[in-house]
Amino acid sequence: MNIFPDDKELKRLITLDDPSPLRAAADKLRRERYGTDVYVRGLIEFTNHCRNNCRYCGIRAGNNPVRRYRLSEEEIIAIADKGYGQGLRTIVLQGGEDPAFDDGSICRIIKGIKDVHPDCAVTLSIGEKPEVSYRKYFEAGASRYLLRHETADEAHYRKLHPDSMSLSNRKQCLHNLKEIGFQTGAGFMVGSPFQTLDNLVEDLRFLQGLQPAMIGIGPFIPTKGTPFENEPHGSPEMTLNLISILRIMFPYALIPATTALGSILPDGIILGLKAGANVLMPNLTPPDVRKLYSIYDNKSSIKEEASVTDGSLAKLVRSAGYGIVVDRGDVKALS
Ligand code: 5AD
Repeated sequence: MNIFPDDKELKRLITLDDPSPLRAAADKLRRERYGTDVYVRGLIEFTNHCRNNCRYCGIRAGNNPVRRYRLSEEEIIAIADKGYGQGLRTIVLQGGEDPAFDDGSICRIIKGIKDVHPDCAVTLSIGEKPEVSYRKYFEAGASRYLLRHETADEAHYRKLHPDSMSLSNRKQCLHNLKEIGFQTGAGFMVGSPFQTLDNLVEDLRFLQGLQPAMIGIGPFIPTKGTPFENEPHGSPEMTLNLISILRIMFPYALIPATTALGSILPDGIILGLKAGANVLMPNLTPPDVRKLYSIYDNKSSIKEEASVTDGSLAKLVRSAGYGIVVDRGDVKALS
């Protein structure tokens, strides 16, 4: 398997009908770099308020029927603490772009977690911010940041987002994050409205330029109350092919088997691991608000368990030939 596929080869691989050789090549590379280890991240969806109006997203500002919630700083820190007790060594703080959580608040939460658990990594997934804010978060102890680019094609980006947003700003944010020293995550949806095969190739080429530590992809899922509610969902098979392609092109990368994949394919999480993913994100969001973090319809989640290494998730992962480890799961050298 050529690890530097040309555009034509990429398109062939993305649409491959018999993916077994692609899967085998990806699995081999993943094992060479990461063995059978699967890293777990405790996901806290701490606010569904969002100032943005992305056309695909269920918590877009304009989706008025959505009941909005915010967790308090104390609640978030307590949830992270419980996650640590379950064996999680990375906490992901994810939320809409919610101005109520200013930089001071985000930094207090990061420090609140790091003071008690210095060996725990904190990942942020809170959108586009000024560079000074990113610096403050890094200094407060956050070490990773997820910001999907969503699509690397200018015209496609404009079809998915309101005029107030721009691909150039998103790319600038990603470069700023890398420059500051964050392990940075980018990614895109598979099968989002208007997406072409050429767009997907552009996404892969953009990632080659960025060399992110983490790459998250998942199928687009239409969501009630959004302009795209009647659009078809993205293909899970194509998503799995792309996970394998990502593993081959970025052997070092931390690649999650995402909730979106698990939501549209019953055994999506395991198929994702077999295709080359090496990260899972159990959901720590309190059950009473979890359903309100409805970025897309019928969103499933990996349930939290008493222990990440001993429970039904751990068993499932083991039965697929991999094993969940209690580890921060930092990226292994970017090469
Ligand atoms: N379908 C699939 N993924 C979605 N996301 C947002 N809305 C949807 C949707 N309707 C993804 C985006 C975002 C991440 C948090 O969730 O890629 O970056």
